[in-house]
Amino acid sequence: MYFSTLGFTLLAAIASVASVSAAPATTSSAAATSTSSAPTSTSSATPTPTCNATAVNVKVLNFALTLENLESAFYKAGLAKFNSSSFTDAGFHATVRDRFVEIGQHEADHVSTLTSIIKSLNGTAVAPCNYTFPMNNVTQFMAVAQALENTGVSAYLGAISSLSGNVSTAAATIATVEARHSAYLSELMNQTAFPYAFDTPLSPQAVVTLAGQFISSCPYNIGVTPFNHLNASLPTGNSTMVTTSFNGTGANSTTSYCQFIFGNMTSVSPRSSCALPANADGYVYVVVTNSSTPLNSTNTGIILAGPALLFNGNHTMHANGTAPANGTAPSGSGSGSGSGSS
Ligand SMILES: *[C@@H]1O[C@H](CO)[C@@H](O)[C@H](O)[C@H]1NC(C)=O
Ligand SMILES: *[C@@H]1O[C@H](CO)[C@@H](O)[C@H](O)[C@H]1NC(C)=O
Ligand SMILES: *[C@@H]1O[C@H](CO)[C@@H](O)[C@H](O)[C@H]1NC(C)=O
Ligand SMILES: *[C@@H]1O[C@H](CO)[C@@H](O)[C@H](O)[C@H]1NC(C)=O
Ligand SMILES: *[C@@H]1O[C@H](CO)[C@@H](O)[C@H](O)[C@H]1NC(C)=O
Ligand SMILES: *[C@@H]1O[C@H](CO)[C@@H](O)[C@H](O)[C@H]1NC(C)=O
Ligand SMILES: *[C@@H]1O[C@H](CO)[C@@H](O)[C@H](O)[C@H]1NC(C)=O
Ligand SMILES: *[C@@H]1O[C@H](CO)[C@@H](O)[C@H](O)[C@H]1NC(C)=O
Ligand SMILES: *[C@@H]1O[C@H](CO)[C@@H](O)[C@H](O)[C@H]1NC(C)=O
Ligand SMILES: *[C@@H]1O[C@H](CO)[C@@H](O)[C@H](O)[C@H]1NC(C)=O
Ligand SMILES: *[C@@H]1O[C@H](CO)[C@@H](O)[C@H](O)[C@H]1NC(C)=O
Ligand SMILES: *[C@@H]1O[C@H](CO)[C@@H](O)[C@H](O)[C@H]1NC(C)=O
Repeated sequence: MYFSTLGFTLLAAIASVASVSAAPATTSSAAATSTSSAPTSTSSATPTPTCNATAVNVKVLNFALTLENLESAFYKAGLAKFNSSSFTDAGFHATVRDRFVEIGQHEADHVSTLTSIIKSLNGTAVAPCNYTFPMNNVTQFMAVAQALENTGVSAYLGAISSLSGNVSTAAATIATVEARHSAYLSELMNQTAFPYAFDTPLSPQAVVTLAGQFISSCPYNIGVTPFNHLNASLPTGNSTMVTTSFNGTGANSTTSYCQFIFGNMTSVSPRSSCALPANADGYVYVVVTNSSTPLNSTNTGIILAGPALLFNGNHTMHANGTAPANGTAPSGSGSGSGSGSS
């Protein structure tokens, strides 16, 4: 096992799946979805490290490198598979592929920079894993890219409080670039580039639940146990119900809940209605829990499955950034593209 047991504990304890909710828990009888603001700080839950700061930096940077290796391999595979015609055939301008080349280069640069920092700290940088990426066509390739970049932003936000010194600055300079990629990809997919005023930090466990599905084998143990895999898909037609499914404990429970985590907000709904919040107009992480208590960094034991990642909204724009002829960009649940299998 690559990470020590202590390393696992530290990683698992870093900023949690959900932000801490300041609002009272919804009652199980509440039919309506309730939305509560949640501070993004989870510092109160971060334990005092019991090993030195350099060792912690190395472990967390290696977790980041695990993700960057994955992203870098993803763009290499997609760009090897899809040429300019594939992009134009899918309805995108030929130059869009050039932007993907740039994004792929950034990820490769992140890999080499994280590797050098880890080496400079006398650590051993983790090697790439083997991956399986769903990319039947350019649109699916883009949807996975959007999911990976969004998850990457959340992963850095979740990890940053356990990094120290120049290393946290280095991580932040990468995180903002992942956010720029994510914004660009969202616009390409007809979604808003910056849906919320705040972004969502995720714990390593939540990140591995989302990204780990693309790892087919690895020469080392990532040292983070994912939560149960969740399938989720956006509402269709006039419904507001997100459809969820998973295997294992609680899969058929009638008293479970959908928790929607987006921006700095957490919204809880009985799973029987699983109502997508009206203000979740962009990325939204969905988690199924056995309690209606809003998720925070210390109550992750209530998670039955997830997170899954959905992208809601369809804000069609012309390439020049103007709205279509009637001046009203269509929006609303059920019309966005989801990556619910994430
Ligand atoms: C969450 O974001 C909203 C704006 O979207 C803001 O009004 C609120 O203060 C934020 N809450 C926290 C705890 O940051
Ligand atoms: C801190 O951890 C690093 C990496 O494990 C190790 O090389 C170094 O000797 C440790 N320093 C102290 C002061 O314990
Ligand atoms: C790395 O090891 C070298 C050689 O042993 C030592 O001089 C240096 O201080 C170490 N760096 C860190 C960050 O521990
Ligand atoms: C792209 O692939 C996905 C996944 O297989 C499929 O659902 C979708 O219909 C395909 N889109 C096109 C335009 O072929
Ligand atoms: C985005 O909107 C444009 C304009 O209506 C449309 O042609 C295109 O297919 C949409 N793209 C996606 C990925 O939905
Ligand atoms: C990747 O798969 C190949 C065979 O498919 C195997 O030889 C290799 O060891 C795997 N690499 C890793 C890092 O698991
Ligand atoms: C959605 O609601 C509108 C207005 O109430 C109605 O006209 C339409 O038939 C509904 N569509 C579906 C798929 O139920
Ligand atoms: C549940 O298990 C079945 C059978 O192994 C599998 O096909 C399905 O994808 C699983 N569902 C989820 C959400 O993992
Ligand atoms: C849930 O219900 C389905 C259909 O009745 C059944 O096949 C499955 O085994 C159940 N899952 C669990 C975890 O009990
Ligand atoms: C998390 O929620 C639980 C209730 O489930 C509460 O007791 C605990 O204080 C919360 N933790 C934090 C860090 O807010
Ligand atoms: C933006 O592009 C659309 C579609 O090509 C066109 O109808 C519109 O006039 C353009 N608007 C501006 C301000 O260039
Ligand atoms: C978004 O709306 C545009 C214009 O109505 C449509 O062409 C496109 O297919 C829609 N995209 C999705 C993902 O629903």
